[in-house]
Amino acid sequence: MTAINDVTDLTVDGDIGVLTVDSPPVNALSANVRDGLATGIAAAIADPAVRAIVLVCAGRTFIAGADISEFGKPPRGAAFPEVQAAFENSPKPIVAAIHGTALGGGLEMALVCHYRVAVASAKFGLPEVKLGLLPGAGGTQRLPRLVGAKAALDMVATGKHIGAKAAAAAGLIDAIVDDLQGGAIEFAHRILAESLPLTRVRDKPVLGVEDGMFDAYRAANAKAFRGFEAPAANIACIEAATTLPFDEGIAFERKRFVELMSGLQSKAQRYVFFAERQANKVDGLDPDAPLLPVGSVGIIGAGTMGGGIAMNFLNAGVPVTIVETRQDALDRGVATIRRNYDNTAAKGRITAADVDARMGLLTPTLDLDTLSAADLIVEAVFENMDIKKEVFGKLDRIAKPHAILASNTSYLNVDEIAAATSRPESVIGLHFFSPANVMRLLEVVRGAKTGGQVLATAMATAKTIGKVAVVSGVCDGFIGNRMLGQRQQQANQLIVEGALPADVDRVLFDFGFPMGPFQMADLAGLDIGWSAETSKGATIRDRLCEAGLRGQKNGHGFYDYDAQRNRTPSPVAEKIILDYAAERGVNRRQIDDAEILERCLYPMVNEGAKILEEKMAQRASDIDIVWVNGYGWPVYRGGPMFWADSVGLRTIADKLAHYGIEPASLLTRLANDDKGFTGAV
Ligand code: 3HC
Ligand code: NAI
Repeated sequence: MTAINDVTDLTVDGDIGVLTVDSPPVNALSANVRDGLATGIAAAIADPAVRAIVLVCAGRTFIAGADISEFGKPPRGAAFPEVQAAFENSPKPIVAAIHGTALGGGLEMALVCHYRVAVASAKFGLPEVKLGLLPGAGGTQRLPRLVGAKAALDMVATGKHIGAKAAAAAGLIDAIVDDLQGGAIEFAHRILAESLPLTRVRDKPVLGVEDGMFDAYRAANAKAFRGFEAPAANIACIEAATTLPFDEGIAFERKRFVELMSGLQSKAQRYVFFAERQANKVDGLDPDAPLLPVGSVGIIGAGTMGGGIAMNFLNAGVPVTIVETRQDALDRGVATIRRNYDNTAAKGRITAADVDARMGLLTPTLDLDTLSAADLIVEAVFENMDIKKEVFGKLDRIAKPHAILASNTSYLNVDEIAAATSRPESVIGLHFFSPANVMRLLEVVRGAKTGGQVLATAMATAKTIGKVAVVSGVCDGFIGNRMLGQRQQQANQLIVEGALPADVDRVLFDFGFPMGPFQMADLAGLDIGWSAETSKGATIRDRLCEAGLRGQKNGHGFYDYDAQRNRTPSPVAEKIILDYAAERGVNRRQIDDAEILERCLYPMVNEGAKILEEKMAQRASDIDIVWVNGYGWPVYRGGPMFWADSVGLRTIADKLAHYGIEPASLLTRLANDDKGFTGAV
């Protein structure tokens, strides 16, 4: 074996040169790896004993892409296109041996090899679009030459991965092998024995081009791509591959890549990529400390949240016992879970056997004592402190020692809940978002006495069930709802002062949210927390409920809904708003879109600053991860704190003061020092 550099070596096995990249964690194409590939391939070509070459990676995966942490920094090391040219033009055949994930630049590397083999578990994709980019190393020009225009279009525009079987069927790989390196060497011998050609993907034609396919694709995906710049650029590149000669296509791709790379959207999306991984790291916790076991889960309450929470664990193969107080509520909850699974199966995303397996892991019961066997118990009963204290008091007697006792409360004080037990160190908040089986965010609420091992286990468990976990301290509404409260307060004031609900909703929708606050209120139900007996018409929402407007559930709210749920602003709601304002002597005025946006979002940023000051969030980027994953903040704007940095904190502090809101001291300090929250803009 010859060491090429500290991440690459070359071994000669008979007449096959095996070039191995070993750059943990994911063999990303850092300067070092590119240097190793350039020097290694030259050495293999120069070695007269070598007749064919295998490119393989050590560790958990083939090359997972360009090294994203190098983006935006001055170039170092061998240029990637030159490395690729050396492979593609090699006079000796090269076989890429793929395991794990061949993603982005990793797949683009495999595409300049003459053949590709993979183990059955390997995955392939060009996920650059998720980073606000496009495959900038020939991926958009080579992929359609192997798999056809249609399949390539979908892969680059959505960033979806495909498995080895699909890749083989599509022509992306030449064989599936059992033993990665052995199979690749065998394949190389076959190339030599059968004198197979040195196939360069670039020389192949693009197949499967149909008239109008690109416009049809754009139209079909307009909703999913709304606001994003990268999907359109990816589509344009595949289209270019069908009309331009290869080298011109590469130039076209390069130009679009550079444009995206220098834009704010990609910067935001790359920031979110790292922020998400950072969020999982908890200050002061030893990442290698042993975790508590989570082999079985108990859930209390089979309502909206309890059912969704249960599904997360069932999906991950963890047995769940779900407890209710009444048989009808239990039956309803279980039926909802089954219906959700049946719907997923009907869409072909899971099999009927999966549904049975998951339902088979669920034990419904009315007997709380059954939870004595559970490692983790999640309480999802009504949002009422007395009820929660009673439940936790009982759990304290029932649960086994070291079981984790979690509450899904949205607002209540986790320390007070913990105090209802004799083991507050075992108590934690696990705040799931609705629908809990779909939303990726999990706020992990660290109480004053929550134990380190309990917290670490909660973070690891979140990962197991596919959630993005963010640690929050104990405060009203934690990170997300606390900030949402500021936005809602401003939205409510804006409609009294002169805006209409549809104006506020439109501005926030255009900013990139999936819907505005009044649409959201209609969707959730205007009568949540409202009671006819105690209602005194103190708020617009009270008055809407008093007038029988309940939101989407009865077809009337801030909007009227038809049978297809199309909405039009409600004249009844508008009159209620105007009367309410008139009673208060408000002289309604024209409010422009800029003011709506600033007043809805700047106070949220201000609250985020307070959350940071109070150390309720570990870092500004955690706040951004909460908003991107829990509240539909457009990922291409990075989250409220990143966005605030891009606007400029001076502007935000001044505008807050202009609107009569005192800027948080952290915000003022950073603005005065000309700094940002994230250091990423
Ligand atoms: N560059 C730099 N670091 C990367 C990286 C990359 N492409 N991919 C992953 N990492 C780092 C992560 O930040 C993480 O670091 P940490 O341990 O310090 O937090 C570590 O590798 C492990 O990553 P994950 O925690 O995500 O590990 P998983 O096993 O869950 O997932 C993965 C592995 C599927 C490879 C996932 O990391 C992933 O999807 N990576 C990004 C792949 C990608 O987007 N590639 C395209 C890059 S852009 C490109 O190639 C441009 C080209 O066209 C020119
Ligand atoms: P829900 O009303 O749909 O369900 C609560 C269920 O708990 C009911 O089925 C009820 O019968 C059951 N229950 C009440 N007391 C019980 C007891 N002592 N033992 C067993 N079961 C009992 O309420 P939802 O919406 O599921 O909320 C549950 C919790 O989740 C609340 O704390 C809420 O704040 C929180 N939450 C709600 C979100 C939402 O969007 N609905 C989002 C995030 C958190």
